[in-house]
Amino acid sequence: MYISTDELRTIFLKFFENKGHKIVLSSSLVPANDSTLLFTNAGMNQFKDCFLGTENRAYTRATSVQRCVRAGGKHNDLENVGFTTRHHTFFEMLGNFSFGDYFKEDAIRYAWEFLTDVLKLPEDKLVVTIYETDDESFMLWHEKINIPVDRIVRIGDKEGGKPFESDNFWQMGDTGPCGPCTEIFYDHGDHIWGGPPGSLEEYGDRYIEIWNNVFIQFNRLADGTMEPLPKPSVDTGMGIERIASIIQGVHSNYEIDIFQALIKSAAEIIDYPELSHQSLRVVADHIRSCAFLIVDGVIPSNEGRGYVLRRIIRRAIRHGKKLGAQGSYFYKLVGPLAKIMGTAGEELNTQQAFVEKVLKIEEENFGRTLERGMAMLNDALRNLQGNVLDGETVFKLYDTFGFPSDLTNDIVRERNLAIDEVRFEAAMTKQRQRARNTGNFNTKYNSIIKIDNHSNFIGYNTTQAQGIITHIFINGLSIEMLATSDEAIITLDQTPFYAESGGQSGDAGFLILGTSKFKVINTHKFGSTIGHRGKLIEGTLSVGDNVDGQVDVERRQAITLNHSATHLLHKALRIVLGEHVQQKGSLIRAENLRFDFSNLEAVKPEELRIVEKLVNQQIRCNYDVSTQLMDIDSAKAKGAMALFGEKYDDQVRVLSMGDFSIELCGGTHADRTGDIGMLKIISEGGIAAGIRRIEAVTGQGAEDVFYRQQQAYTQKVNESQARIKALEKDIQQLKNKVAVQKSADLINQVTEINNIKVLISQLNNVDNKALRTMVDDLKNQIGYGIVFLCNVTNNKVDLIAGVTKNLTHKVKANELVNMVAQKVGGKGGGRPDMAQAGGNDITALSSALNSVTPWLTERL
Ligand code: ALA
Repeated sequence: MYISTDELRTIFLKFFENKGHKIVLSSSLVPANDSTLLFTNAGMNQFKDCFLGTENRAYTRATSVQRCVRAGGKHNDLENVGFTTRHHTFFEMLGNFSFGDYFKEDAIRYAWEFLTDVLKLPEDKLVVTIYETDDESFMLWHEKINIPVDRIVRIGDKEGGKPFESDNFWQMGDTGPCGPCTEIFYDHGDHIWGGPPGSLEEYGDRYIEIWNNVFIQFNRLADGTMEPLPKPSVDTGMGIERIASIIQGVHSNYEIDIFQALIKSAAEIIDYPELSHQSLRVVADHIRSCAFLIVDGVIPSNEGRGYVLRRIIRRAIRHGKKLGAQGSYFYKLVGPLAKIMGTAGEELNTQQAFVEKVLKIEEENFGRTLERGMAMLNDALRNLQGNVLDGETVFKLYDTFGFPSDLTNDIVRERNLAIDEVRFEAAMTKQRQRARNTGNFNTKYNSIIKIDNHSNFIGYNTTQAQGIITHIFINGLSIEMLATSDEAIITLDQTPFYAESGGQSGDAGFLILGTSKFKVINTHKFGSTIGHRGKLIEGTLSVGDNVDGQVDVERRQAITLNHSATHLLHKALRIVLGEHVQQKGSLIRAENLRFDFSNLEAVKPEELRIVEKLVNQQIRCNYDVSTQLMDIDSAKAKGAMALFGEKYDDQVRVLSMGDFSIELCGGTHADRTGDIGMLKIISEGGIAAGIRRIEAVTGQGAEDVFYRQQQAYTQKVNESQARIKALEKDIQQLKNKVAVQKSADLINQVTEINNIKVLISQLNNVDNKALRTMVDDLKNQIGYGIVFLCNVTNNKVDLIAGVTKNLTHKVKANELVNMVAQKVGGKGGGRPDMAQAGGNDITALSSALNSVTPWLTERL
């Protein structure tokens, strides 16, 4: 029976759906709200809180096809990829889960039925392992399923290892849910070398583990303590690639349908003819992890998750280059991959262009890094004494330029030299230690509070309600009673306080009982319990007290408006910039909102303006903001935007603002969009390659911004005006200086009429005030005489005449000016010693000027 990988996904889910399991979508590769994990590494991750008993869902049986990455962190297969037939950085895990529902017996029955009845695997090809002391599983396999004793292998703890360090004791990470497991192996036949599990030859490829059934019974704490869980549960995982290889009658995972198609595409893109080349497998594997990590929000960088992604990309590029790939090639595999992934490729399809761009940029950057690395290597080789390149240089090439040691080795070998492997390995060991330390996220999971409890959030439509105190914690210790001044976390059975989540800040306010007053600074979620963090400022409070919860209304209102505005902003960005825009994070506080999203370039100012306008239009439309509860499939069918990184409950809350925005959201929101008032974008900038951040304000916050801006502008205008005045004064002084200079030149043009000094001159573009200064100045210089100046500026004529006082009985300046003015279409006036006029007929100017001398001669 041949079954395609895509069909296998459906057959598996349907099988367990028929056994009462809820089909749950794969969660993101970046674990939601779990800092103890680098990447999602198993199907059970998204159910961690269900296993721990801190989260209750509407179902107690679930099944999923979970995308996983095992590179970096506790389960790391990166270096094995390409060298074995069954290791991957990325794979999909088929799983069924019981949260305190069925346990060992049903888990074992279901697994057996699926393999032998549905997939028709021959029973004698299957071998099982159990944890050494797990007699119950032994009994179930042997007596209920009839597996012969010689095909049930007990596996204990590793020799020299820690307690529970065993292939048959599964642990999610250094902390978290764990328990003994039973694994099912498939015998690929004696033509392949290898022995059954537990034998010396177990590392061969003959017996391959296909399905792990874990009996989750403990929560492992950071100090190694195994804390028994309230309800024994089941977590299973079967790598789809391994089971597909058996069903499709091939031995290697890389020979199954989806890998064959991907390898073929890679070979075509790289233009390499040999499909069986190991490097093609590496490339095909790596494009899967890289593409889906980017889909789930990871961007290449130098730390944490981004660094692991960068290493995988570089490894892929190098393997491509080994096969002779020219230029950037890796990103071209995204398109083929999106098609090949079938039902599991939905998110990749919608983000294809974005993923391609991120990979292309990374590839181009690495190209340049490679060049710089080569330059450093050449330098080192030129200065080399002896014939061994030191380990530090090899490490530096690796660490700074991403040069793997085998690449360096290849180049060095071509010159008949060698590298110092020992020193290089020593430097690498140190580096690994550092990486482990950085990979060691916050391991204090839930160390503050461990409660099997549930609080009802009743604050969507109210900010005041009563609730009974269920727990009080001080420094993680549960106590019965609080005294004045105690700082604590109080949990209630129901509360109007919104707990920080989905980017929205938690509420602040008071819990009050009579004269006792607990000031809440923030509200947090602990599993599905809501904890109020703060300080008792008056009186005492005890577990069981019925307190009055009063949320700080103004703060909540501001947060709420910012949250609703964030939805409008998200949608507007997708409309203006494109559907590739994905929310990558948000922070919604009373003061402002912050929205991070994927977009490779900076958003242009004109685009930002359109986004802002679009949002404000929606605000003015004053849509009703409505919420509806529905299952996730109906929500998707309605077109609701969902964050792929989030884990969603069975029933999701769909928030709609008219037809404009439909989004899944658990936060608090305005009643109508008009309540937001308006949105004002404050800034836009990059926070990582491909990720932009917008900060904005709404409502009162926006009004405050405008007021502050107006204040700032008024101040600026006043300052500018004072400055302009000062500058004008300076200019006038300069002009006067220039006029004085000019009058010094004019003095040479003085003539005489009947022994009286006369100056008649035409000037251009002299400032009016300066003209007066000039005439005064010239009069002073000649002492006894007449000055007549005309000045042309912009086709207009200024006339000015000055007569020294001792001559005004003969010639009057006002008469002279008037006489000329009439000739140039104007008139003027003034005193006998100084008069001015204007005219606009410059064509008549020269004949008018000629009339001055005869006019004067008559009078002098
Ligand atoms: N969580 C178990 C595993 O990954 C099923 O093997």
